[in-house]
Amino acid sequence: MRRMFVAGNWKMNTTRQAGIDLAKGLVAAVGPGELGVDVAVCPPFLYLDAVKASVAGSAVTVGAQNCYFEKSGAFTGEVAPGMLVDIGCNWVILGHSERRAILGETDAVIAKKTAAALAAGLKVILCVGEQLSERQANQTEAVLDTQMAGSLAGISADQMGTVVIAYEPVWAIGTGVTASNEQAQAAHAYLRGWLASHYNPQVAQATRILYGGSVKGSNAQGLLGQADVDGALVGGASLKVEDFAPIIQAARETRK
Ligand code: 13P
Repeated sequence: MRRMFVAGNWKMNTTRQAGIDLAKGLVAAVGPGELGVDVAVCPPFLYLDAVKASVAGSAVTVGAQNCYFEKSGAFTGEVAPGMLVDIGCNWVILGHSERRAILGETDAVIAKKTAAALAAGLKVILCVGEQLSERQANQTEAVLDTQMAGSLAGISADQMGTVVIAYEPVWAIGTGVTASNEQAQAAHAYLRGWLASHYNPQVAQATRILYGGSVKGSNAQGLLGQADVDGALVGGASLKVEDFAPIIQAARETRK
């Protein structure tokens, strides 16, 4: 059985104090101890340390939104995976569509980052997803094939034990338009089939596949109830406790 996972991607939002307040508010809302689901918040790099301290003693974990693929050296402005481990960061989001589209990250770069993050001991949330024009041209599966093969190049079946896939259709990100439950399930089932054929059935069964794109309290139950949807990667709705906590609650109530 796959354990549900809800992660909040804060993107380039909050201030230091707002991030601390949000993290503490979340801990207060979900309560102490075992949650029955995995929960992570992914603040901007600068606030990781403060947010990590704010969730100390709770089951809430912390993730970064990016990292570089080298260990150290003359890479001005970059952050090494080992630095994230050093401050107690648990996860890193890689291959987000905003980094692919705006920062020009290729699958080859994402594969190097994935390998470096895993080698450093970080768990990876790897994002894939098609653009609207690609969906309309019936290229969704081809795009997912390319992104999965490219971004996971060189990653072994054993290493997949600490990789989570996030299916984020670009047209559903920040738009208020969510993939329907059926569209999400179809893409997730396709990705699970990809994992079975490119790794093995055990990896396919064990790997969690999150849905991301305009997830909110009102649609979380329907999406999370799909057989191959194992959680959510939440953007806008992760920035307020009153919006994020109901999504976590929906995951806790989802029984598969
Ligand atoms: P929204 O939830 O704001 O649509 O963002 C989704 C996302 O990109 C999470 O990584």
